[in-house]
Amino acid sequence: MEENKVVSMPRIGDKAPEFKAVTTQGNIHFPNDYKGSWVILFSHPADFTPVCTSEFMTFASMEEQFANANCMLVGLSVDGLYSHIAWLRTIKEKIEYKGMKDVEVKFPLIEDITMEVAQKYGMIMPGESNTKAVRAVFVIDPEGTIRAIIYYPLSLGRNFDELYRVVVALQTADEFKVATPADWRPGDEVIVPPAGSCGIAKERMENKDENVKCYDWFFCTKKLDKETVLKKVLKK
Ligand code: BEZ
Repeated sequence: MEENKVVSMPRIGDKAPEFKAVTTQGNIHFPNDYKGSWVILFSHPADFTPVCTSEFMTFASMEEQFANANCMLVGLSVDGLYSHIAWLRTIKEKIEYKGMKDVEVKFPLIEDITMEVAQKYGMIMPGESNTKAVRAVFVIDPEGTIRAIIYYPLSLGRNFDELYRVVVALQTADEFKVATPADWRPGDEVIVPPAGSCGIAKERMENKDENVKCYDWFFCTKKLDKETVLKKVLKK
């Protein structure tokens, strides 16, 4: 890439950049086709590589779990459609990893040989590779707004439990107008008021809600049952 070239990358809070693409599941118009659903758009460096294979097997085996949280998955690499199809078939027919075998990847995998989408989403990081996308993750809400962005380098496989936690935590923050603290999981206490709001300290400290506990003006937690969270987030 030329020196001094300004590369624009979408940021948290931006609308997800629009594109049309060919995928292993047909053509898509992104993010329009996913209106009303959460969607994870993620890139991987290359088909027929080991870390990516372990990631696809893991993600594919969690697809139903994500769908149950109203979250669809869409993959992308700068390989072509026939490479994608051959790689996914090989995974299903031959690869066994951590007890997973016969794994069928049913979510769409975008072909992006021109790198148009990868460039648009800032998935090419020349310091890491000029010819492959890094492991980028964009979590996009039902209105098409980017809510979280996570990047991993080529050598490091992602933690898919963490991606699921991110989706559930963002939905919980929206539904209950709270923030979720470090390592939060459904059933753990949440933070009030929500992140970014500036509640009045005195009001906060005098909160009459018996579920709210204020340790000081800047740190108030509230109980939120696991069942209450899951009832809102998960489809039955
Ligand atoms: C892998 O998925 O194993 C991989 C891909 C690109 C570079 C290095 C590793």
